[in-house]
Amino acid sequence: MEVLGISGSPRQGGNTELLLKHALEPFRDKGWTVTEFYLSNRSVAPCDGCDICWETGECVIRDDMDLLYEKFVSCDAIIIGSPVYYRNVSAQLKAVFDRHHALFKNKPLIGKAGGAIVVGRGASGGQSLALTIIYNFILSSGALAVPGQRNGLSVVADKPGDVLKQPERLKQARVLGQNVLKYAELIRLESK
Ligand SMILES: Cc1cc2nc3c(=O)[nH]c(=O)nc-3n(C[C@H](O)[C@H](O)[C@H](O)COP(=O)(O)O)c2cc1C
Repeated sequence: MEVLGISGSPRQGGNTELLLKHALEPFRDKGWTVTEFYLSNRSVAPCDGCDICWETGECVIRDDMDLLYEKFVSCDAIIIGSPVYYRNVSAQLKAVFDRHHALFKNKPLIGKAGGAIVVGRGASGGQSLALTIIYNFILSSGALAVPGQRNGLSVVADKPGDVLKQPERLKQARVLGQNVLKYAELIRLESK
């Protein structure tokens, strides 16, 4: 079993990556293969709208998205995190969402469990909007939107590492991971 974690932050070691790592711990504990895809060290160009994928089911752009195209197929669950940027997800993550469009024919995420994490500096900084955007991607891909303790994980933090001073939020990241894991295992049992 394999979980795919995508962080949309361009900041290495930032809050999104730290929260995502905590959310992925329950999968490691259960011996899953954990694939971490951090947009701080990967490059995914924006969709250029050529629409060739509409005919071929394949994107013509060759970059680090190639790995994600494989992982969307091989994974059993997915957790996506993003910093809040202008009350939205980061441009880096939005590029991934748009490029996923090339898989519209096969929809490899159908029936897979998905969770969402967002972090912004403001107490009402647009976290709920960014969460909705990630869950909309999950649902549009045919995946299942799994909640954490309440909704997706919404965090207030700014400087890289700030989130490490918030043990409650780190715990909630783990709870989100546990929930996604639980649903992924239930789905697997059902499909046997
Ligand atoms: C371009 C840009 C736009 C931002 N927009 C928002 C925003 O709309 N709301 C908010 O709460 N924080 C905003 N922030 C702050 C980041 O969300 C915050 O610093 C977050 O912790 C970054 O996550 P990271 O450490 O994973 O990169 C913005 C930061 C940048 C660089």
